[in-house]
Amino acid sequence: MKRELPVAGRQRAFSGIQPSGELHIGNYLGAVRNWVKMQDDYDLFICVVDLHAIIQPYDPSEMPELVFDMALTLMAAGIDPERATLFVQSDIPQHSELSWIFTTVTPIGDLERMTQYKEKSARLASVPAGLLAYPILQAADILLYLATVVPVGADQSQHVELTREIVRKWNARYGDYFPEPQALIGQAKRVLGLDGQAKMSKSLGNTIGLLESPEEIWEKLRPAYTDPARKTRKDPGNPFICNIFSLHQEFSSDEDIAWAQEGCQTAGIGCIDCKRRLGDNMIEELRPIRGRADELKANPERVQEALRQGADRCLGIAEQTMAEVKRRMGLDHVRSPSEAKVDAD
Ligand code: TYM
Repeated sequence: MKRELPVAGRQRAFSGIQPSGELHIGNYLGAVRNWVKMQDDYDLFICVVDLHAIIQPYDPSEMPELVFDMALTLMAAGIDPERATLFVQSDIPQHSELSWIFTTVTPIGDLERMTQYKEKSARLASVPAGLLAYPILQAADILLYLATVVPVGADQSQHVELTREIVRKWNARYGDYFPEPQALIGQAKRVLGLDGQAKMSKSLGNTIGLLESPEEIWEKLRPAYTDPARKTRKDPGNPFICNIFSLHQEFSSDEDIAWAQEGCQTAGIGCIDCKRRLGDNMIEELRPIRGRADELKANPERVQEALRQGADRCLGIAEQTMAEVKRRMGLDHVRSPSEAKVDAD
């Protein structure tokens, strides 16, 4: 069987995102913006991970729309299905199959040490096994495509490290096959929410959505947390502990960043001025994304077609990987009784 290799000279990169209802600027700055930049230099796979999302209770009737909206927003943000492979995890059954195989080489202790597991399980009276096994499915996502680079925000680096451990364990038993992937963490490692305290996250309600209107963005930015030392406009502040200033570094020009820094330190500007300038810059960067999203909403078949094409390409690669995995594990038996019959005839 001819193996499909990455285009010459390009490393294969894989990343995923949960269809949790809203792509927010934490996802965008921490991951999606980097993916868009990587499309020409890497053989890039972007997966909407619905099998990860079902670990939390959810309404099945809403899932198709959540997945579709996430794919649409990714395309609006600049993921181009001509240059990257965009697909939905549950369209490729081999993700689950490889995940099971990896459960057999992954120590439970390694899973229990994962920060996200500890945080999430602490909040639950009954912990589903899927929450513990979550990083194994993530490893299967990456390794099914033999990806070597994983562009993510800092909160995922521990999961990528575990993926490397799984590779070492599996390769030690069945021979060198899987590469050890590296996390690629961009400049905005961990974007804080508007509360200025916790990571920006849908579940904490401290986000700005990528497709929100200028009015909605401003309504959220206006009361956002700043340096508490600035009780009045006359009190100087420390921009380096202020989340609004961190966001300026992502959305603003060098001149505006210098203006915000000096104005804060000398009390030359008020927090509201600083937020207003940030809001203007953020709205400018997000405007074309909203425009493209509107176009795609009017032409939903473009999103469907991209996902279909993505699934076709992924299925071919996934079949090749699983054939090799099964061969090495002594699991390449006759596939079905009907095939056995054909062989016998
Ligand atoms: P998810 O859906 O939580 O987030 C998607 C991407 O956005 C990044 N991110 C952030 N970066 C900086 N600051 C923030 N506040 C912030 N919030 C989110 C995440 O780091 C991530 O890169 N387990 C993954 C999905 C996944 C995956 C994979 C990733 C499944 N399989 C394989 C890589 C490879 C997750 O839940 O991401």
